Amino acid sequence: MLAAAGVGSRRHCEALIASGRVAVNGRVVTKLGTRADPEKDVISIDGKPIDAVQEKIYVLLNKPPGYTSTRFDRFAQHTVMELVDEIQGYLYPVGRLDADTSGALLLTNDGELANLLTHPSHQVEKTYLATVKGRISSSSLDHLARGVNLDDGPTAPAKVKLISYSDADNTSAVEITIHEGRKRQVKRMFQAVGHRVVKLTRTRFGCLDLKGLPEGEHRFLTKKEVAKLKRLARHKNEP
Ligand code: URA
Repeated sequence: MLAAAGVGSRRHCEALIASGRVAVNGRVVTKLGTRADPEKDVISIDGKPIDAVQEKIYVLLNKPPGYTSTRFDRFAQHTVMELVDEIQGYLYPVGRLDADTSGALLLTNDGELANLLTHPSHQVEKTYLATVKGRISSSSLDHLARGVNLDDGPTAPAKVKLISYSDADNTSAVEITIHEGRKRQVKRMFQAVGHRVVKLTRTRFGCLDLKGLPEGEHRFLTKKEVAKLKRLARHKNEP
């Protein structure tokens, strides 16, 4: 686990453990092969949590449909981790996209930024392109923009723009920008105004968009992008 977290080579990590510098939940472990749960246990080296000593990795993935956005799910056919499996380090997705949703998904081992970005009061703007069944009226678009009532409460104002209507398959393409992150929120919002989402893509997450990133591909964020994302997360909704 230490090696996977980017602390160093396996041999280096074994030496750290053998020399009594590694602790799990504050208790020094010197036995090689000691197990720990990275989600629950605090692993530290010389008293510093490995979170603080490991190299931080930030990856933007253009998630294809058909992949679950979790590290592990025994019921999922595929998880997004398969798409970034050559990256060394304990990455996990920031927030969730439904399995059938595609688009911008951030993965990182930076727990602090991930917590900030998923905290309800620090959510960054997210833009989605939704293809919905039927011809959507301007009053429904206004309703979505003002906020609709969902079973877990009203939604905050959103930016909503009609992109096109297709006569051939009777669908409307709508761009919607929200800064909340409730479960299946976009689908439920359209459902509330009588339209079923048939395709959903997240085209933007904070300052990150999908330009030059084909579906299924990923790239590392630049230092500038990481700095901007941190700024956005700390000062929510700042341009
Ligand atoms: N809203 C949804 O309904 N699904 C997603 O995957 C993301 C936002």
